[in-house]
Amino acid sequence: MLFDTPAKENPIDRAREVGQPRPRIDGPLKVSGTARYAYEQRDVVENMAYGYPLGAAIAKGRVRAIDTAAAEAAPGVIGVLTTLDVPRHALGPMNTAMLFGGDRVEHYHQAIAVVVAESFEEARAATALLDVDYAPEPGCFDLERVAREIVGQPFCEDDALVGDFDDAFLAAPVQLDVTYRTPDQSHSMMEPHATLAAWEGDELTVWTSNQMIAWGVRDLAAALDLPRDKVRLVSPFIGGGFGGKLFVRSDVVAASLAARKVGRPVKLALPRPLIANNTTHRPATVQRLRFGATEDGKFTAFGHESTSGNLPDGGPETATQQSQFLYAAPNRLVGERLGVLDLPEGNAMRAPGEASGMMALEAAVDEMAEKLGLDPIEFRILNDTQVVPGKDTPFSQRHLADCLRLGADRFGWGERASLPARRREGRSWIGIGVAAAYRNNLLMKSGARARLQEGGGVEIETDMTDIGTGSYTIIAQTAAEMMGVPLARVTVRLGDSRYPVSAGSGGQFGGNSSTSGVYAACVALRTRIAERLGADPETAVFEEGEVRWGNSAVSLVEAASGGEIVAEDSITFKGLGEKYRQSTFGAHFVEVAVDAATAEIRVRRMLAVCSAGRILNPVTARSQVIGAMTMGVGSALMEELAVDKTRGFFANHDLAGYEVPVHADIPRQDVIFLDETDPISSPMKAKGVGELGLCGVAAAVANAVYNATGIRVRDFPITLDKLL
Ligand code: MOS
Repeated sequence: MLFDTPAKENPIDRAREVGQPRPRIDGPLKVSGTARYAYEQRDVVENMAYGYPLGAAIAKGRVRAIDTAAAEAAPGVIGVLTTLDVPRHALGPMNTAMLFGGDRVEHYHQAIAVVVAESFEEARAATALLDVDYAPEPGCFDLERVAREIVGQPFCEDDALVGDFDDAFLAAPVQLDVTYRTPDQSHSMMEPHATLAAWEGDELTVWTSNQMIAWGVRDLAAALDLPRDKVRLVSPFIGGGFGGKLFVRSDVVAASLAARKVGRPVKLALPRPLIANNTTHRPATVQRLRFGATEDGKFTAFGHESTSGNLPDGGPETATQQSQFLYAAPNRLVGERLGVLDLPEGNAMRAPGEASGMMALEAAVDEMAEKLGLDPIEFRILNDTQVVPGKDTPFSQRHLADCLRLGADRFGWGERASLPARRREGRSWIGIGVAAAYRNNLLMKSGARARLQEGGGVEIETDMTDIGTGSYTIIAQTAAEMMGVPLARVTVRLGDSRYPVSAGSGGQFGGNSSTSGVYAACVALRTRIAERLGADPETAVFEEGEVRWGNSAVSLVEAASGGEIVAEDSITFKGLGEKYRQSTFGAHFVEVAVDAATAEIRVRRMLAVCSAGRILNPVTARSQVIGAMTMGVGSALMEELAVDKTRGFFANHDLAGYEVPVHADIPRQDVIFLDETDPISSPMKAKGVGELGLCGVAAAVANAVYNATGIRVRDFPITLDKLL
């Protein structure tokens, strides 16, 4: 199915299942411990062995030799595979860092050996006996140094240069020139990267934890030099990914190679202390924001420059992405610079780009409002735009101002003192902050297979994944709506490369794109069923378990009595993307209390108002947003990978040292979704919310802290030492 014109009215608009607050259908499996995650797989193979990885203890250089004798002689050990035993493997198109193979070390904790043993404990113990001879080389680990070196250099692509920024900025009666810093961050998903790899002849099956099944097959096949049809990847349940599992990581490659070497299935998980340096992270940024405005608060010059680092061949953190779209200004300078760092690979983490970009931008916007003596909400609305700044492209929908106004009303914005450090309760300073939320709405081709089973059940198969987001549930709701059956009659099978290729889970495109693929498959299935019954597929109505046309009605049970009916299709998006800018918008509100003596910051309440098209399921969507708001509190107040600039690694590489919010840190969170549909986005008329919920939160916290204390911290996270 080609989606190239705005969606007309269709069965989804009945909204009997889609849009209803259904609890997640995989919930019982998860809370009863019967959902099988990658490392819990066991009876799918026989004679399984355990692998344990060793990470490099240098950040850059060469492995000269690895003495494996002691490890090989250790109890229970079946075999040892080192990086020197196999060639440097091919990398997938979006990977930067070496996962396994060859003698080069490109970052700290790069996997350089795997010990395989009869038990996990024996494998782990023997790994400690490996003796590695390194030839280290100096590296560069200091973003500040890199940023100083490349200041003024040309931007990477994707820049927005409009009008004459320099002249307009200098001429502006009101100016702001500030630099914000965001730190390296770790995904810190609950489930570690883990894989069970098993060979049958030259065919490989991996049970792993991966967001993008088809990318995984592509990259693993390339790494091992196998045809893609010899690789099967299975990932039915994922305990969080946040972008850290968009690509296969070393667990997949090392387990597969080790399994081939020892001739047995090998299961391997990355130990928690290895994950931060072995896998990917959200890169730190240095962001300079320069705003010029008229006295009455209209932007005349808008500048946002971001610098980040990455391994050679890596990309920049696209922290200025939203700045091309969020506020109007006739003169614009927006772009990113990239330096080389020998830290681990920087790559996507939830709302890559906007998450860190909005931290800086929306705090700076607050600073500008204060300079102008304007209310932060009115200032944002004053500079709102219905077309892409510098172009005439309209947004498919843009209800930013509605989100801000509605949120202000519901949150009690009127209680906010317009001057900072004015509101005191007991020993706490109280402050309220706001930020706009913005995240692009991406669309991805997505396919599915739909089956009317004998007995009248509907089964959906697609390689879509559920990373905790609710994919199982919204896909079942979509199929139930399209086929006119209750939710309980739908079976959803996900996360297996044997199923049709889907959008996968990433970039907040998964929900809308994958359900649109299921929509397409169901349209095809309805056609097949109608044809079997001699009905007109265009006018046949599927409801209450029946197909109805003219004066006829046939139950699906009866329709399937001549054998199951199967149909497969995918949705491809084309054309509308050039005519309309598709984005999601929102507003975040935060109230904090800051202890006057200790500067401890407590978030007291939060509200997110989201404008993201049709909400496919308000329960799962709300969970996405409150999870994202929680992550935003972490960004604002806690999360930071501390760089050892001498030895080149993240020092706090476990969950003891890398702090994230827990329930006790989040007393009250509310989410409001604007009641809307966006026919430009897809037949589902939905958009993404999972990343929107994060974008802007940290700035809203920072703005609330400023409102409480009068202290502006431009160096995230805002830890209490920075307030004292
Ligand atoms: Mo998201 S960072 O694209 O999983």
